[in-house]
Amino acid sequence: MPNHIVRLLLVMAICAAVAYVGKQLLTVDSFYRFGHYRGNSVAEIASDKPKYATSKSCETCHKEIYAEWSKSVHYNPEQGKVVKCEVCHGASGSRDKNPNAYNSSTGKDHPKNLKLENPSDTVKLCTACHEQMPGRPREQKQIVVVTHTGNQQCKDCHDFHSPRKFVGTSTSKPGNAAAGKAISEDCVECHGKLGVSEDIEFPSIAGQPQTYLADAIKAYTKDLRRGNRMRKRAQDLSVTDSENLAAYYASLTCKSAKDGEPNAAIRGRALAGKCAGCHGEKGISDKLMWPSLAGLSKSYLEEALKSYKAERRKNGMMNIVARNLSDADGADLAAYYANLACR
Ligand code: HEC
Ligand code: HEC
Ligand code: HEC
Ligand code: HEC
Ligand code: HEC
Ligand code: HEC
Repeated sequence: MPNHIVRLLLVMAICAAVAYVGKQLLTVDSFYRFGHYRGNSVAEIASDKPKYATSKSCETCHKEIYAEWSKSVHYNPEQGKVVKCEVCHGASGSRDKNPNAYNSSTGKDHPKNLKLENPSDTVKLCTACHEQMPGRPREQKQIVVVTHTGNQQCKDCHDFHSPRKFVGTSTSKPGNAAAGKAISEDCVECHGKLGVSEDIEFPSIAGQPQTYLADAIKAYTKDLRRGNRMRKRAQDLSVTDSENLAAYYASLTCKSAKDGEPNAAIRGRALAGKCAGCHGEKGISDKLMWPSLAGLSKSYLEEALKSYKAERRKNGMMNIVARNLSDADGADLAAYYANLACR
């Protein structure tokens, strides 16, 4: 055997011996029991206190929120898409800060000593998953933040525990219908004797949700969200007058205009799914704050959509909705809603 091969084998034998002695002396016993790992650490880690307690654990104390959330679009276990409570609120357990106690089995817990975060900046929170970006798969719903929200918080419009539901705010109180009736003469000229307008230019207001009516009347008086001929009539009304008038007109019976062209109405029906969440399945709103559309005249509805699109009429939600509607779609939707029964 040539000399250099002998030397090479010798070096290899010495290395193997050093490695063996090193392993015996320097590593713990359980090293290599499961491959290249410290076997005992499995049991150690398993005995460690969990930081994340799972969403189910929140149910006992936060029943209503849990119920809301588990019916929402953020809870879809069939497709493996679950936005867990602790994704937004942070871990409900913690471990000791002591640097030597890496495997600590103690530490604070929510609600004992550990207050969970109440995320106040929902733009930051929600855009982490929903901001439009090139690499993000299309199945994940995305928005262009600037055009979608302006400078509003996501929670101003979306219910954060059930984001397909929308929220609204109103300061209007229920009014007195009899007191409203007494001052309603001024309105007859344009809105008809019993709130059912005879002129398609003016909206019928009978049977609309009370809070919506009150907010609408106030919108003409107080700020510039809405303009035009209504403003002059509304100027002298007090807040209480507005609320009383709203109570009166909400109590009256509506009548459908039914002036939509039937083929346009059929096309409109196919588009109306987007509106159902806020205006009701058949155009009859079940929320006090938001208007019913069923049975309003076609021309009024069409004009309203155009005003929202051009932002002559200002409303955070409808401006976003109308921005994405073509004029033709708006006309079809108007025909569809005009033909529906209003009750
Ligand atoms: C044993 C009952 C209990 C459980 C389980 C529980 N909570 Fe709470 N939670 C409370 C109580 C009590 C409060 C109010 C105390 C406080 O404000 O610190 C609270 C408050 C909160 C708050 C509001 C904090 C604030 O500043 O307003 C959030 C958010 C919260 N819990 C989320 C969760 C989440 C997420 C879970 C599940 C991982 C959970 N909780 C599990 C009892 C519980
Ligand atoms: C997509 C994010 C998100 C998820 C998921 C989420 N929350 Fe929240 N939660 C929020 C936001 C945002 C707030 C409101 C913060 C504020 O008050 O401005 C909030 C508020 C709360 C509050 C305190 C306010 C209140 O209404 O009482 C509790 C308690 C709470 N969440 C519990 C839960 C529980 C329990 C779950 C899981 C079943 C959960 N949250 C899931 C975002 C989320
Ligand atoms: C951890 C990622 C994550 C966060 C944070 C998150 N979402 Fe989502 N969101 C999702 C996923 C995933 C879905 C889709 C579920 C599906 O397709 O079944 C979804 C669905 C939605 C939808 C329904 C879209 C549709 O199909 O119409 C809305 C609206 C929404 N989220 C709003 C919000 C808001 C508002 C917040 C902040 C309070 C938020 N999301 C925070 C992941 C997230
Ligand atoms: C001014 C009200 C408003 C605000 C603020 C708002 N949204 Fe929306 N969002 C809407 C409306 C209305 C829709 C439904 C639009 C439609 O169906 O045409 C919607 C739809 C969505 C969808 C579904 C989009 C799709 O393609 O189906 C997502 C996701 C979403 N919003 C996330 C967010 C997030 C994240 C924020 C905060 C950064 C936010 N929204 C703030 C009103 C708002
Ligand atoms: C000179 C005609 C005129 C008179 C008088 C009038 N209105 Fe109006 N009203 C209108 C017009 C036009 C609109 C539609 C404005 C728009 O597009 O924003 C309207 C809209 C409304 C709306 C909003 C309807 C909706 O569906 O959004 C309410 C509520 C309302 N009027 C209540 C009243 C009340 C109450 C009175 C009596 C105090 C009154 N109006 C008097 C012309 C009038
Ligand atoms: C996120 C909730 C939401 C969605 C989705 C929505 N709307 Fe609206 N809509 C509103 C609110 C809130 C108002 C009242 C705004 C105001 O006071 O001007 C409104 C008002 C209207 C009005 C004026 C009604 C009146 O009496 O003056 C029309 C017309 C309308 N929406 C049509 C639609 C159509 C068509 C769609 C579907 C393409 C749609 N909306 C989807 C919330 C929504």
